[in-house]
Amino acid sequence: MTARRMHLVAFLMTGPTCHHHGAWRHPETDVDDLLDPARYEHVARVLEAGKFDALFFADILGIYDIYGSNFDAMLGRGGQVCLLDPSVILPMMARVTSRLGLGLTYSSTFNHPYQIARMLGTLDHLSKGRVAWNVVASTSTLEAQNFGFDEMPGRAQRYDRADEVLEACMALWDSWEEGALLLDKKAGAFADPSKIHYANYVGKWIRSRGPLTVPRSPQGHPVIMQAGSSDRGREFGARWGEIIFTLQHQKGDMQTFYKDFKGRMARHGRAAEDCVILPSIDVVIGETEAIARERAEYVNSLVDTQLGMACVSGQIGIDLSKFDPDQPLTDIAVEQGSRGSFDVILQGTAAEGLTLGEAARRFATSELCPQLVGTPEMIADRLCDLFHDHACDGFVLTPTTFPGMYEQFCRSVVPVLQERGVFRRDYAGATLREHLRD
Ligand SMILES: Cc1cc2nc3c(=O)[nH]c(=O)nc-3n(C[C@H](O)[C@H](O)[C@H](O)COP(=O)(O)O)c2cc1C
Repeated sequence: MTARRMHLVAFLMTGPTCHHHGAWRHPETDVDDLLDPARYEHVARVLEAGKFDALFFADILGIYDIYGSNFDAMLGRGGQVCLLDPSVILPMMARVTSRLGLGLTYSSTFNHPYQIARMLGTLDHLSKGRVAWNVVASTSTLEAQNFGFDEMPGRAQRYDRADEVLEACMALWDSWEEGALLLDKKAGAFADPSKIHYANYVGKWIRSRGPLTVPRSPQGHPVIMQAGSSDRGREFGARWGEIIFTLQHQKGDMQTFYKDFKGRMARHGRAAEDCVILPSIDVVIGETEAIARERAEYVNSLVDTQLGMACVSGQIGIDLSKFDPDQPLTDIAVEQGSRGSFDVILQGTAAEGLTLGEAARRFATSELCPQLVGTPEMIADRLCDLFHDHACDGFVLTPTTFPGMYEQFCRSVVPVLQERGVFRRDYAGATLREHLRD
């Protein structure tokens, strides 16, 4: 039996902030190239040199204006704002890499499956089988209003509809059998119509006739990634997910989530290794532990508490300006927003007794997920410990400086992980799905 291998995915957004809301203000972080293709091409090359499984873009289809009913902090202070459409950036990244997986977030609520299947099928061809779709059901009314709806449907309906979108997409991707494209000039046979089928998908919300215009792509369908954390969200992920991105406060929380999720997969008749579970991790690396600690303290000092409140308000869909920041945080019903984001705040509060203000600040630092600070060896130790103790199958790394943290991680931590035999020295396969299984 081959040894279990760790999987690494890099988190990106097309704006100043990924998770760490102080990172963009760090002197070593590049921000003047946010609208420049070179920024995205460069980080893709760095991550491929570091043999990462993939990168992916998180995305929000609007500008959070939930906190205080305005976007002053979010835009004025540089929060999670997505300046560009990742589906236009990925093809550029595909052209400068040959192995790195390329993921993007696409909403199952606001996009029709025909359009999704066509776009992602095209990208899977152009990247030669390296595409992942982070399926989000979307969370906020502000996004719904950008697409002409008055408000978001409730969580259960969003996920029921998402199930149908996935079923329809799969039917469309399967509408072309392998080998349907003949390209036989001599015989004048372009394609074999007997290998191309109507999808004829009819659900409660979704209908699509098919066939897709796009021939079967190298992976058949993109790798499905997902991050829902509510009970319904986990069921959806356990049915479809091949990569699960999760926010967890500490090792015990990760282990609980991991066990719960793999159990759900078994109930859906899936093998545990069909899906990797990747919690979010921040790292701050130093030549010595003292240097790393000083660096972490510095970058963490750049976080703005009010922006933290605006960020949490956006993610959980509740205006926190109406709550006292000096009071301990208690559970709130999260219907529109992300239950997963709120759960990690509750985990942190339970473990450390944080007030709302403290929790918001910590959320704007590492989203209350572990921030690993130390030398490359110390960081590799922590990653290996979590991995070997079945807290996860690997990690989603989020930047604390950009692109410096990714460059540093690939140069200094990856070789230690390779030395220890837990991470690939080179890609064994060509497609993202192959990387997830190597
Ligand atoms: C770690 C994490 C990352 C997420 N990334 C995005 C994102 O980029 N865009 C988005 O619209 N929703 C994102 N979400 C929202 C989820 O995909 C999901 O739609 C939301 O959490 C509601 O489902 P839940 O209540 O089951 O968690 C994210 C959620 C989590 C926990």
